[in-house]
Amino acid sequence: ALVTTKKMLLDAQKGGYAIGAFNVENMEMVMAVVAAASELRAPVIMQTTPSTVKYASLKYFYENVKVAAESVDIPVAIHLDHGDSFDLAMQALRTGYTSIMIDGSHNPYEQNISLTKSVADSCRPSGIPVEAELGKVGGKEDDLDGGRGGLTDPKEAAEFVNRTGVTSLAVAIGTAHGIYTGEPKIDLERLSQIRNNVDIPLVLHGASGLSDEVIKECIKRGICKVNFATELRIAFSNGVKKVLDDIPDTYDPKKYFAVGGENIKQLVKNRIKVCGCDGKV
Ligand code: 13P
Ligand code: ZN
Ligand code: NA
Repeated sequence: ALVTTKKMLLDAQKGGYAIGAFNVENMEMVMAVVAAASELRAPVIMQTTPSTVKYASLKYFYENVKVAAESVDIPVAIHLDHGDSFDLAMQALRTGYTSIMIDGSHNPYEQNISLTKSVADSCRPSGIPVEAELGKVGGKEDDLDGGRGGLTDPKEAAEFVNRTGVTSLAVAIGTAHGIYTGEPKIDLERLSQIRNNVDIPLVLHGASGLSDEVIKECIKRGICKVNFATELRIAFSNGVKKVLDDIPDTYDPKKYFAVGGENIKQLVKNRIKVCGCDGKV
């Protein structure tokens, strides 16, 4: 069923595991993610960035995920990832998205607070959870170039959460969007300090390319939602490429999308197990 991320994240926080949040780009990816989660009895989040939303529309993705959610008996949420404006956040709310991120992290601190607070205030009456970001996750996400901005300040994090009223917080602790060029340096001590200061669920961005061990350690230290995007794109594209290379006269999209989808399903099952949310339904 389609649900908000509220209960799934609070349950994860209590239980010491994390929910996998997977970026989807098309119907086949939605089908594959929900199949993986359903087989493993895991609550699951599917999410779309502004550029993905622009590719189709909020409603296209909302309806795809809704159909998928109604076909299984696990909790499924549709989340706006890296929402970049108040307007887009409100459009997602009106469309039926069951979870919303407002990413004001590219703004100065006070502007991040006012933008984030306005979205949190607007979503609260409908009970839709709001994720925000403080500090900058590295790498390039979507059309926004994150650069190599600052890591989350644990003291600021407490004030930020109090003043904005958000229900979850994305932390910058050295992870980056996309595939890492060198060995990622994750500031685990900083994560523990943020966890000490903040009582809402914490979110890890940029998980593609992180080892199972690093992800598990972050979850142990308080991460309740882990975002995976680039890995899924690669897995899907590799499946499609393989079919088109092996059988060049293929012209039925179902044939190559099926293999892309199967790759996604295997990947998502592995990542769900790393998050420890399998068997939680
Ligand atoms: P990756 O592309 O590194 O998996 O990051 C995903 C993410 O943070 C989506 O918001
Ligand atoms: Zn992200
Ligand atoms: Na990454």
